[in-house]
Amino acid sequence: MDLKDKVVIVTGGAQGIGAALCRRFATAGARGVVVADRNLELACTVAQEIDGTAMACDVAQEDEIGRVVEQTVETYGPVDLFCSNAGIFGPLGGLEATDAQWRAALDVNFMAHVYAARAVVPAMCRRGQGYLVQMASAAGLLTHVGAAPYSVTKHAAVAWAEWLALSYREQGLRVSCICPLGVRTEMLAEDAYLAPVIGPTALSADQVAKCTVEGVREERFLILPHAEVGQHFERKATQYDRWLRGMAQLKARLEEDSPPSNARC
Ligand SMILES: NC(=O)c1ccc[n+]([C@@H]2O[C@H](COP(=O)([O-])OP(=O)(O)OC[C@H]3O[C@@H](n4cnc5c(N)ncnc54)[C@H](O)[C@@H]3O)[C@@H](O)[C@H]2O)c1
Repeated sequence: MDLKDKVVIVTGGAQGIGAALCRRFATAGARGVVVADRNLELACTVAQEIDGTAMACDVAQEDEIGRVVEQTVETYGPVDLFCSNAGIFGPLGGLEATDAQWRAALDVNFMAHVYAARAVVPAMCRRGQGYLVQMASAAGLLTHVGAAPYSVTKHAAVAWAEWLALSYREQGLRVSCICPLGVRTEMLAEDAYLAPVIGPTALSADQVAKCTVEGVREERFLILPHAEVGQHFERKATQYDRWLRGMAQLKARLEEDSPPSNARC
C-alpha cells in the first residue's frame, strides 16, 4: 500500500514502537494519523509533533476502539490502515500466573486485535481495500522462554493475523504481522529475564517502524525486523524437537544465573 494521503490509526502510539510508527506513517505521507493510547498526555505530544490527532483509548475495551474508529471517520474519512500495536509484557512464569494476569494479557495482546478487526474490516471490504498491521512479537513465532502469558497471547495474535489475511484477501484486505525480537523501549527494560539474550541485538523503535513501512509498501505478511527470527522460525518448523531442546537449555541457563522470583517449581 502506498501510504500517501491515507488515514491511519495507531494504538499504543504514545511511546516506544507505536510513537515511531506514527512518525514514520506521517513522513510517508499519511493524510491523517490518529495516535490512540491509554496515556492521552503522551499521545498528545506525539500527535502535536506530526500534526495528527490524539485519542484516549484502552484497547482492552471494545467500545473504546469503536469510538476511536467512529471519531477518525468523522475527522478524516474512512480508515485506510489500522495499526494494532499496543501490548503488555505481563508476568514471568506460566503455572504461577493468575487468572487475572492471563486475562489482562489476552485482552490487550489478543482481543484488542479482534476488536480492531471487527471495527474496520467490514467497511474496508465494502470499499474493496484496507490494511491491518498487527503487532505480535518474535515470542509469537518462537516463544519467550520466561513468560507464558506473553508467548501464548502473541501466538494467538499471529494466528488471528494469518486467519484475517487469508479470509479477506479476495475482498481487498491486506494484513501485515510484525514479529520483532528486542526493541529498545520501556517494555524491553521491563524484561530483565531475557535482556541478556536479546539486549545486544536490540533495535531502535525507529528501525522497526522503518522496516514496517517498507513491509506495508510491499504488502508483505510477515515483517521481521531481525533477520535471525526468520532463521530460528525455519529451524523450529523443520527440526521441532531439536529446537525445543535448545530452548529448554537456554531457559535452564538463564534461570541458573538468576531464578525468577515467583517460580513455584
Ligand atoms: N520492546 C520490545 O522488545 C518488543 C519486542 C517485540 C514486540 N513488541 C511489541 O511491540 C508493541 C509495543 O511495545 P513497546 O516496546 O513500544 O512498549 P512500550 O511499553 O514502550 O509502549 C506500549 C504503549 O502501549 C500503550 N498501551 C499499553 N496497554 C494499553 C491499553 N490497554 N490500551 C491502550 N494503550 C495501551 C502504552 O501506554 C504505551 O504507550 C507491544 O505490542 C509489544 O508486545 C515489543
